[in-house]
Amino acid sequence: MKRNADELLTFILDSISKIASLHHQEKLLVALSEMSRDIVFADRCSIWILDKRKKKLWTRVSDGVKPIEMHEKTGIVGYAVTENRSLVINDVQHDERFNDAIDKKTGYKTKTMMVIPMVNNDNQVIGAIQVINKKENEIFDAQDLKYLTLVASYAAESVSTILMMEEINQTQKELIFRLGVTGENRSKETGFHVKRVAEYSWLLARLYGLSLRECDMLRDVSPMHDIGKIGIADAILHKPDRLTDEEMDVMKTHVQIGYDILESSELPLLQAAAIVAHEHHEKYDGTGYPRGLKGEEIHIYGRITALADVFDALGSKRVYKEAWDDAHILELFEAQKAKHFDPLLVDLFIENKEKFFAIRDEFVDV
Ligand code: C2E
Ligand code: SIN
Ligand code: SIN
Ligand code: FE
Ligand code: FE
Repeated sequence: MKRNADELLTFILDSISKIASLHHQEKLLVALSEMSRDIVFADRCSIWILDKRKKKLWTRVSDGVKPIEMHEKTGIVGYAVTENRSLVINDVQHDERFNDAIDKKTGYKTKTMMVIPMVNNDNQVIGAIQVINKKENEIFDAQDLKYLTLVASYAAESVSTILMMEEINQTQKELIFRLGVTGENRSKETGFHVKRVAEYSWLLARLYGLSLRECDMLRDVSPMHDIGKIGIADAILHKPDRLTDEEMDVMKTHVQIGYDILESSELPLLQAAAIVAHEHHEKYDGTGYPRGLKGEEIHIYGRITALADVFDALGSKRVYKEAWDDAHILELFEAQKAKHFDPLLVDLFIENKEKFFAIRDEFVDV
């Protein structure tokens, strides 16, 4: 119990340190916005963020104006973002794409405008940088466009970082909250069990060829595969003997309980955790639970965690069983190829078994 509290504290401290650097990024973005404005002699500069889920564009940084929110396809900014096109418009009032609602509300008259979409490393549009009204009634020219495009690339990086950090922060806060709500850790598995399953999962994912980002994500979420065990009565969860069929039926509900806890969240990280909780006891030949999914119907995260979990469970002493020796473990995996487990994963596991044993030796239970 004490150790869990320590982990929770580390978690919280990590979040706080990330919030601090988030503040730093925010300042950087404001500086970039002011720089854009001055570099092209514009009156105003706004940085718009695209929220794909809400289908909204909103101003993250906008000097002199209150934050504005509008539909993602509205106006000139909406056009630039939707089409991923840079625009120089020197007669805004006569441009049919222009949405004059904002001018009408603020009493400000937009005459000239440049909008440059911001794209992230995956080439997705994440927003736009917009300057309005070149000073002294001049028009924006090719040089201005070049400068603003340059700044936009830096702003895009800063915005990506901010969005990523915000997601991390929100994820961590939500995790802390959910873990807090679920209360005490009721499983007797040690912290090293989840640590090992996490590392095995990462390695299997890597060997399988998933991207680094996905491997890291799976490492983060696989420790939650058995979170549903918090809903299982002590008498069953800690029974120092084999379970009866009835007790096993109750035990099997841990996959649904875990899924229900996690799936209501929209956060990608918890969505992935929900898949793992739900599918880690499915079997490749369709004889697993809860849905009897077959082969590639089982999400790759589920297939990977299944192998990682059983490898660790077999090698560990439980209240109801002794630890197995390596020869027997390898025998079981060979025998269960394409039955319990994805055959490709079994091959990868056996070819690289020394790496898996090394992880086990690194995180030994005491
Ligand atoms: P767990 O201990 O983390 O085991 C995860 C999975 O590893 C098991 O899923 C099973 O596929 C495999 N496994 C573990 N021990 C053995 C073993 O001795 N022989 C074989 N062939 N496979 C093994 P499963 O069976 O769906 O069990 C899910 C969870 O239910 C287990 O998680 C454990 O918490 C509990 N459980 C299962 N059987 C018993 C039992 O006889 N007594 C008690 N007290 N708990 C059990
Ligand atoms: C538009 O993009 O047409 C309206 C937004 C603005 O004027 O700032
Ligand atoms: C568990 O796997 O955490 C439950 C069985 C046990 O207490 O060893
Ligand atoms: Fe499980
Ligand atoms: Fe487990």
